[in-house]
Amino acid sequence: MRVRIFDTTLRDGEQSPGVSLTPEQKLTIAKKLDELGVDAIEAGFPIISDGELQAIKMITSANLSAEICGLARTNKKDIDVAVDSGLNYIHTFIATSDTHLKYKLKLSRDEVLTQAIEAVEYGKSRGLQVEFSAEDATRSDREFLKKVFSEVTRAGADRIDIPDTVGYSTPQYIAEITKDAIEATKLPISVHCHNDFGLAVANAISGIQAGAQCAHVTINGIGERAGNASLEELVMSLQCLQFNQKYETGIKTELLYDTSRFVSKLIGMPVQPNKALVGENAFGHESGIHTHGILNNPLTYEPISPELVGRKRWLQVGKHAGIHGMCAMLEEFGVQPDKEQAKQILDKIKYLGDQGKHITDVELLTIASEIMKERGIKRIVQLTGFSVSTGIGTMPYAFVKLNIDGKDFTATDYGVGPVDASLNAIQKITGKISEVRIKEYVLASISGGSNALCEVTIKVEDAKGNTSSAKSVGEDIVTTSVQAVIDGINRIMLKKLLKEKKIDN
Ligand code: KIV
Ligand code: ZN
Repeated sequence: MRVRIFDTTLRDGEQSPGVSLTPEQKLTIAKKLDELGVDAIEAGFPIISDGELQAIKMITSANLSAEICGLARTNKKDIDVAVDSGLNYIHTFIATSDTHLKYKLKLSRDEVLTQAIEAVEYGKSRGLQVEFSAEDATRSDREFLKKVFSEVTRAGADRIDIPDTVGYSTPQYIAEITKDAIEATKLPISVHCHNDFGLAVANAISGIQAGAQCAHVTINGIGERAGNASLEELVMSLQCLQFNQKYETGIKTELLYDTSRFVSKLIGMPVQPNKALVGENAFGHESGIHTHGILNNPLTYEPISPELVGRKRWLQVGKHAGIHGMCAMLEEFGVQPDKEQAKQILDKIKYLGDQGKHITDVELLTIASEIMKERGIKRIVQLTGFSVSTGIGTMPYAFVKLNIDGKDFTATDYGVGPVDASLNAIQKITGKISEVRIKEYVLASISGGSNALCEVTIKVEDAKGNTSSAKSVGEDIVTTSVQAVIDGINRIMLKKLLKEKKIDN
């Protein structure tokens, strides 16, 4: 069965506390969602502000493949503004639970029913596709809910949505009221599940199994309070888990990770590391037993291949590490300790792990080179020239000269500060050669005073999602940052070349 994906990142998702987007940002996200292959985009709530109206106008004129929808309460003004914003599809809603009727709307059930019918009729008279939502459906009286659904169907609604507004439903209950809705109307049913008890995706799946054809979802599960059902989790569950029937969506799953990061960055809401599928740790392995299994066959400890969602697996050492995983990680950088050296490296890692230390590939390589008495990794990229200029009234500017595999490259660039300008100039060169980008940059002061030592930790990533970290300590923030970036770039390029066997260990 083909499941319709109705994305509400730009409406319910934007209602996340602390999130507010400009019209241009909303348009960029809409284009990303369209590329991802969602069937419908809820672009916003046109009545709420001039900027929102402008954003929706921009999105409706962008010629996207997805259907574009906008939210409207069950009144003429909201619906008229939706029409003015260029929409031909609205999602109109009114609450049906007694709690909302008594404390919010101050309306009787009959009055709510009348408003719902009139709004649907009005929307249809204005030539719109109308999806009707009974807000707080899962806490509404079941008979009343059925009555509302059947009356709005008679009034001409095109789709019915069941919102679990405060995430109060269980998978079993949402299945029951989905069946009620199917009985009350022959229209396609959507489920709109919130995550207050962490059940949003489970509830959405249950609604679909009970006969709903569509799920309202958001990227990274953002939305009011604990958020909505996450698009990536729902889509991948439908595609990969065992059900009585096969489910399909139009989502290009290999774009999921990129879309997740794009949205997270633009809205300024980080994704928790242990978030399913798109969290940093979702395809990371540390413990010896797991890394050993993964190295033999990834199926042992991964339910799906990371590439399916546009990701790469990564291994890390720590106090749970085992010899196989550790040697495999070193091998990625061309480092091959003998048996005794490997044991010593592992002992040191476990010792540091017991002290509560986090060991990145930077520490691993440092420990390995100390024990193996080597001078560190092969350098493909060398910094051969570098200067910055900054001051009041001038835009910070950097010049960088790099030697990459024997060839010289120079670049200049501006930035918001001298570090930014330097990093931009480096990326101008490396971007052309191997598309390495800086994913994380953390600056810490490790001693006090104006001559304090600073520590810069960076994480770089190549176009295929491979990552590598580097750390540098020094007195000058700019030089230390540049050094860390060059080290990170060296590591990632080395890893890549070794993988392609274009270099000897
Ligand atoms: O959660 C909800 O009830 C909503 C409505 C606007 C449908 O988002
Ligand atoms: Zn909602």
